[in-house]
Amino acid sequence: MKSILVTGCNRGIGLGLIRRLVKHPDPPVHVIATCRSVEKAKELQQIATQHNNVHLLELDVRDYDRYEEFSKKVKEIVKEDGLNILFNNAGVSSKFTRIQLVKSEQMLEAFKVNTIGPIMLTKALLPLLKQAANNNSEGPLGAQKAVVINTTSVLGSIALNNDGGFFPYRCSKAALNMATKSLSVDLLKDQILVTCIHPGWVKTDMGGSNAPLDVDTSVTGIIELIRNLNETHNGGFYQFDGQRLDW
Ligand SMILES: NC(=O)c1ccc[n+]([C@@H]2O[C@H](COP(=O)([O-])OP(=O)(O)OC[C@H]3O[C@@H](n4cnc5c(N)ncnc54)[C@H](OP(=O)(O)O)[C@@H]3O)[C@@H](O)[C@H]2O)c1
Repeated sequence: MKSILVTGCNRGIGLGLIRRLVKHPDPPVHVIATCRSVEKAKELQQIATQHNNVHLLELDVRDYDRYEEFSKKVKEIVKEDGLNILFNNAGVSSKFTRIQLVKSEQMLEAFKVNTIGPIMLTKALLPLLKQAANNNSEGPLGAQKAVVINTTSVLGSIALNNDGGFFPYRCSKAALNMATKSLSVDLLKDQILVTCIHPGWVKTDMGGSNAPLDVDTSVTGIIELIRNLNETHNGGFYQFDGQRLDW
């Protein structure tokens, strides 16, 4: 892959992905890492200083009106190569979301960040994804063409929901799963692969300290999975280690 754009890179899984990508023996030509405030993202700044293939761009994924301006900045980086991978990682979850406590504002916020952001950003970056796919028109579907990855969660699986609750998070990720499937149908003609990945239960601010996986294990698996993506993954729901999950 020549280029990858990851949202929400100042901490957690996003930051872990950038750390791992720059150390890869065959690193991407352009790693575009977004965060809400570059000034506050000290570790990202340090990585970008040490690796000139890392570009930092500011993006609050709820600012849909700024996506056009944002896509122009991405175009200035990738130029005629287009964008190979859009990794929609930024996400939110809220506490106290059992039915007695859940608030409509929590539901709206979850949908804005977890569902609408990935759909609208895919739309905004579509010309660049198409360009990358076109540039390698003879190649198989996958990371050398163009891929959209939506970071979902096992909590967004209807089939695997035995514990209830978590209305904002579960519903917004289930909706993201549906968006992934629709995008995979709609964008197949453009040779863009679309899939969703559950990173595992990971020790981050969101996952908490009881999570069994560290960030590095999760992102190492995710990068391996990205490199191996092929047409069988289009429209699917996968865990960081490549295991297919039930919707
Ligand atoms: N950790 C887990 O166990 C787990 C399990 C399943 C799925 N996931 C998914 O994995 C992804 C990353 O999670 P994580 O564990 O790394 O969470 P995290 O540590 O809480 O980090 C979340 C990231 O998303 C960013 N973000 C939140 N709202 C944003 C907005 N409006 N605009 C732009 N960026 C925003 C945050 O930036 P700020 O610092 O600016 O808030 C931060 O960089 C999420 O989609 C999450 O749902 C995580």
